[in-house]
Amino acid sequence: KKPAGAPDKALAKPVTKVGVIGAGLMASQFALLFVRRLKVPVVITDLDQGRVDKGLDYIRTEIASLLEKKRISPDEANRLNALVTGTTDKADFADCDWVIEAVFEELGVKQDVFADVEKHVSDTAVLATNTSSLSVEQIGAKLAHPERLVGFHFFNPVAVMPLIEVVKTPKTDDATLSTAMVTAAALYKNAVITADTPGFVVNRILAKLLGEAMHAVDSGTPFEVVNESIKPFGLPMTPFELLELVGLTVGAHVLDTHHAAFPDRFFESENLHRLAEHGKIFDRDGKGRITGFDKKAVEIV
Ligand code: 3HC
Repeated sequence: KKPAGAPDKALAKPVTKVGVIGAGLMASQFALLFVRRLKVPVVITDLDQGRVDKGLDYIRTEIASLLEKKRISPDEANRLNALVTGTTDKADFADCDWVIEAVFEELGVKQDVFADVEKHVSDTAVLATNTSSLSVEQIGAKLAHPERLVGFHFFNPVAVMPLIEVVKTPKTDDATLSTAMVTAAALYKNAVITADTPGFVVNRILAKLLGEAMHAVDSGTPFEVVNESIKPFGLPMTPFELLELVGLTVGAHVLDTHHAAFPDRFFESENLHRLAEHGKIFDRDGKGRITGFDKKAVEIV
């Protein structure tokens, strides 16, 4: 079934090489997905070689784990490893026809990243941003060709969550939108086309859930009680578990963006910022299973 608002598939441009800007956890997760599903060269970059190497290490460890679980053959593991490379030189992006970024969630940083990458790629390369909640149109403000920019928003954990929000700006052209939809399908994801509004659809709804859970704690109900209260609703994770999964800094940023856009409907949480600085909410055992609330996190709120 053709997704709502999707242009003709025939308009899609071929994706023969992928460039990934940012080698953090989210970017590394989708770099792996691109190489595994599209089977084309994927080059990742970041500010310095150390960050690039960390991203490559993550990808190579995940490929080894897929091999160990017998999800891929030794030949495929070798092919995937050979297709993924790292660089600190954007000149290596020259022949990429799809470039996606997941760098720090700050508008000015993303604008500069795209203005810079545009100097290195062809005029027809598609540019995509994985921003959580910033305006995609504003991210493209410094582009000579803003019509080839589209939001392509993955969810954590990338390998498991089936959705991609494809964000259309008033300037995105049909060929770009079609390429995004066809690419999402090639990644075995369900894509929906959303308007370019704060938080798009998913984070707008999540910001309510996570923000209200934090606000309940800010207002004096202990973490434990809020956490227990929501469990019978059958969500796969409680709001606090979800905050840790997406990262407390990212969570705080998403809340701030919504508060800035809709101050009468979304709260900021000072406590969430303090928790982000502390780094965690839960204590976990060696296998990552939650064993209880972190003592310092409870003190912070
Ligand atoms: N990273 C990578 N893979 C993970 C993972 C992680 N953190 N957590 C679980 N997985 C994988 C497991 O390896 C397993 O894969 P396998 O079948 O290939 O071995 C698979 O997920 C299922 O794992 P479990 O059996 O442990 O599954 P659970 O039943 O506990 O489900 C979950 C795990 C799918 C993560 C589930 O808890 C869930 O759906 N949670 C909600 C996640 C969510 O809402 N994400 C969206 C966050 S918002 C966002 O990302 C947007 C951003 O902009 C803020």
